[in-house]
Amino acid sequence: MACLLAALAALAGAGAWVLWRGRQAARIAGTVSRLQAGDWDARVGPLGGELGRLARDLDSLADQVRDDLAQLRRSDQVRKDFTANVSHELRTPLAAIKAFAETLREGAAEDAEHRMEFIQEIERNADRMTRLVDDLLTLSALDSGARTPAPESVDLMQLAAEVTATLKPLAGRKELALRMEPFRNVPPVRGDRGQLKQVLTNLLDNAIKYTPEKGLVRVSAAAAEGRVTVSVEDTGPGIPAEALPRIFERFYRVDKARSRELGGTGLGLAIVKHIMEAHGGSVSVESRPGEGSTFSFSLPAA
Ligand SMILES: Nc1ncnc2c1ncn2[C@@H]1O[C@H](COP(=O)(O)OP(=O)(O)OP(=O)(O)O)[C@@H](O)[C@H]1O
Ligand SMILES: [Mg+2]
Repeated sequence: MACLLAALAALAGAGAWVLWRGRQAARIAGTVSRLQAGDWDARVGPLGGELGRLARDLDSLADQVRDDLAQLRRSDQVRKDFTANVSHELRTPLAAIKAFAETLREGAAEDAEHRMEFIQEIERNADRMTRLVDDLLTLSALDSGARTPAPESVDLMQLAAEVTATLKPLAGRKELALRMEPFRNVPPVRGDRGQLKQVLTNLLDNAIKYTPEKGLVRVSAAAAEGRVTVSVEDTGPGIPAEALPRIFERFYRVDKARSRELGGTGLGLAIVKHIMEAHGGSVSVESRPGEGSTFSFSLPAA
């Protein structure tokens, strides 16, 4: 009898175990079905026993796929926004060129007083399109890796002096003081000279463009902990706090109308960021409305 009872108890235990395993397996199968149906939030949750490991692996795989999918959706949105932005930016000058050409065809060509004005407008808009296409090609080359930096030893002080000299007339037209502080004890960096020149040009161009007349634009540099940091500081209008996190995005402009009026396409800072990333460097901005802006980029010393 005792023997029979023990056998029954063992059988009941085995039955309970089979039932428990069956429930665990059903939980896993249920989760797999939900995942297959596209519910990437479905998870098995903690399970004991041998199946616990399988459940953990399945859940972590689902986490990874969900994150990758979210990233893919974000990239897809960025791509769609980018195409819409490019089309819009090209359409505006194209429409202007067409309108001026039509006006000329319809008789303005005979009007000696206004003819030149219209032709200049056509040229200005064509230049704008050329600049946009050039910037897009630069970004695309940086994106595809076709323009990986060709590193050499670069003396940033010499480079900044060159760029400052080139942009001096632009600053002069607005009676801006364009000052370059001596770069003391700043070692050379390893980088692509042409690309670093573009970084300095884009930052200085912005500082000059957005700072009102009689303001100050100052370039300085410092070295610390194996890195060189170059700063471009201005006494311009500053940038609102909510715009700061987006300022390096392609086509982002605080004041679209104002930037367009100044011939901008909103790609200058995106190019700066890309070049810095390709160099293992970084770029940052500090700014408060009404108190000017300071853009700084930092690179490992050679
Ligand atoms: N020094 C600055 N002071 C104030 N605002 C700035 C400054 N630099 C950039 N910005 C703001 O950031 C935006 C993005 O700058 P970015 O250089 O990318 O584009 P852009 O100057 O408008 O056009 P592009 O450089 O393509 O000619 C500008 O439109 C402007 O609103
Ligand atoms: Mg710019």
